[in-house]
Amino acid sequence: MSGRWTIAPALGPATPSWDRLVLASGLPRLEARVLLEHASGRRREWLLAHGDEIADARAADAFAGLARRRRDGEPVAYLTGSREFLGRDFEVSPSVLIPRPETELLVQAVLDRALPGARVLDLGTGSGAIAISLACERADLYVVATDRSPEALAVARRNAQRLAGQALAGARLLWRAGSWWDALDAQDRFDLVASNPPYIGAGDPHLAQGDLRYEPQQALVAGGGGLDALREIVAGAPRHLRPAGWLLLEHGCDQDGALRALLAGAGFESIQTLRDVSGLPRVTLGRMPE
Ligand SMILES: C[S@@+](CC[C@H](N)C(=O)[O-])C[C@H]1O[C@@H](n2cnc3c(N)ncnc32)[C@H](O)[C@@H]1O
Repeated sequence: MSGRWTIAPALGPATPSWDRLVLASGLPRLEARVLLEHASGRRREWLLAHGDEIADARAADAFAGLARRRRDGEPVAYLTGSREFLGRDFEVSPSVLIPRPETELLVQAVLDRALPGARVLDLGTGSGAIAISLACERADLYVVATDRSPEALAVARRNAQRLAGQALAGARLLWRAGSWWDALDAQDRFDLVASNPPYIGAGDPHLAQGDLRYEPQQALVAGGGGLDALREIVAGAPRHLRPAGWLLLEHGCDQDGALRALLAGAGFESIQTLRDVSGLPRVTLGRMPE
């Protein structure tokens, strides 16, 4: 059992307690606890209540391996295979973006504007976080989700089966493969279109930092300084939105001005930008004329 002693040679030959594993991991305590829950299959409350007891040796070995990979930089969500989004646990893998809290603002903006029975499109669904959350929150919505990546769509379908079984049974949540608007039929029309597309420019130094190093490039990077995917989505939206339909887009916090100009140029009205909890501009939306 290789990994056990690499986390803390000073611990001595005996398997340490659950608390000691966390302390000796060299990780922030919350991250270490999440990984220990995953490695042991024990709930957080159990681990807290039994923290001073000798850890199970197999769990300690598994934890040592995960802690080492985390110290090397792998995202916690890829190590555990899941990330919470709007109160639900989504399966994630290195073929999908790890859902971000900022995207919850986009989902809420859709929910605030969707009339009963609305048809909603999620372009570039990744893990399915946006589409599945909408279908779970509102049983009246009809949701279509697309992605260019077959691997991402496979993850999204599994999430849907686990989290939105009823919605699937009612055929209210449909999947389409393809690049942006090409994934749809020419006659498809929606009341709302939401997307969190790639919007980081190639060569942006953030791509070499933190979790972004491990996430799929096609989920992160867009040409034209990060604006090309947003441009393509805005340009095609008028053909697929009903009169008075909304287009809602997540974007980088320095892209709101450019996006408002794109929306105005494509004939959108009621254009506004929403800010996240840190006060940063994150979601810009516009409405087609009546
Ligand atoms: C930033 S991720 C967003 C994933 C998910 N919607 C979320 O918010 O967590 C962008 C997604 O767009 C997909 N994508 C990239 N280029 C695309 C294209 N040309 N057509 C369709 N989807 C694309 C990627 O595969 C990825 O899943």
